[in-house]
Amino acid sequence: MTTNHLGLRTPTTDPINTVNGKDHRLQNAPSARGPLAPNSLDSGSDIMTKQEISSPVYGAGSGSSTATSTASRLDAIRAGQHHDAVIHPEVLQEEAVVSIRNFNLWYAATQALFNIDMTIPRGKVTALIGPSGCGKSTLLRCVNRMNDLIDTVRIEGDMDLNGESIFDVGVDVIELRKRMGMVFQKPNPFPMSIFENVVYPLRIDGERNRAVLDEVCERSLRGAAIWDEVKDRLHENGLSLSGGQQQRLCIARAIASEPEVLLLDEPCSALDPMATGKIEDLIQDLAGDYSILIVTHNMQQAGRISDYTAFMYLGHLIEYGPTPEIFTKPVLQETEAYVTGRFG
Ligand SMILES: Nc1ncnc2c1ncn2[C@@H]1O[C@H](COP(=O)(O)OP(=O)(O)O)[C@@H](O)[C@H]1O
Ligand SMILES: [Mg+2]
Repeated sequence: MTTNHLGLRTPTTDPINTVNGKDHRLQNAPSARGPLAPNSLDSGSDIMTKQEISSPVYGAGSGSSTATSTASRLDAIRAGQHHDAVIHPEVLQEEAVVSIRNFNLWYAATQALFNIDMTIPRGKVTALIGPSGCGKSTLLRCVNRMNDLIDTVRIEGDMDLNGESIFDVGVDVIELRKRMGMVFQKPNPFPMSIFENVVYPLRIDGERNRAVLDEVCERSLRGAAIWDEVKDRLHENGLSLSGGQQQRLCIARAIASEPEVLLLDEPCSALDPMATGKIEDLIQDLAGDYSILIVTHNMQQAGRISDYTAFMYLGHLIEYGPTPEIFTKPVLQETEAYVTGRFG
C-alpha cells in the first residue's frame, strides 16, 4: 500500500493493467456509460479503459439499465427505476471476505436497500459513503445480522462470510457475531473495568485462565494503540476514559476475539480532531490483519483511510472502486457531484 500526493492510499494493483478487456465479466457486460459522463474521462487512449470500467460488471438485472443511459441515474432512482451499479474491476480482483448478493431490505413496507451486489475485499479498508439516510448503517448492520433485532425488517438475498451464508436459516447468529467486531458512533464501554471490557468476549465464552485473559487484554489494547495510556490503570472503570480513549477501548474489545471482519459505523463522529486522528491511524494499522468496513459521512476521512469506496444513494449502490479513483476520476458524474460536495 502506498500513499499518493493527495494523501490517498493507493492499492498495489495497477489500475491500468487490471482493466484489460480480456476479463469475461467485462466482455459480456453492456456499456452503461451515458452521454452525461464527466468530460475529464474523455481524453485520448484512455477511452476504452473508461468505458470498460463504467460497465456494470455484475449485478442483478444487467442490461435493464437503458432507462438510465440518457438521464441522470439519480433522477431515475428517485423515480423508482432500477439501475446497475458501476463496479470498478479492481474490486473484483480482490479476494472477498464478505460477498453481498442481490440484497434487498424493507423496514415494514418501506424498502431501504435495493439489489445490493458487492464484495468486501479481505485485509483492506472499504468505506461506505453517501448522503444521510441512504442505507449505509442498514447495510453494515446486516453483515452481522444486527437487523434481526428490528421486528419490521424483512430481507431478500443473502450475504456470505468467507463463503458461508450469513442469512441461512441454520446459521447460529451468536456464533456469527463472534466472527465480527462492531464499533458504533458513540463509544459504548461497559460500566466495568478497562480489563473486563477488553476480555468481555472471552468471559462470555467461559474463559477463566488468567494468563490467557492477561495476554488477550494486552495484545488487544496494544492492537488498539491504547496500551501505554491505560496499562497502569486496567482496573479503573472504562467510563473514566476520555471519548477517544473509550472508542479505542471499544476497538480493543472488538478485536479481542480476533474477528474476521471489523464493522465501524462512523466511529469518529463523536470525537475531536485529535482523537479522530488517532482512530484513523489505528484503522490503517489494523488493515491487513483485519478486513474493515467503515461507514463515514466524512469524505476526507474516507479518502485518507480507505482502499476502496462505495457510494450509495437512496438505498442503491451507485459506484464502487479504488478510493483514489472514486475521489479523483469517478466514472459517473453523479459520484463526482457527491464527492465534490455539489449535493448531499
Ligand atoms: N429502525 C428503523 N425503522 C424504520 N426505518 C429505519 C430504521 N433505521 C433506518 N431506517 C430508515 O432506513 C433508511 C436508511 O437509514 P440508515 O441506514 O440509518 O442510513 P444512513 O446510515 O446512510 O444515514 C432511512 O430512510 C431511515 O429512515
Ligand atoms: Mg448511519
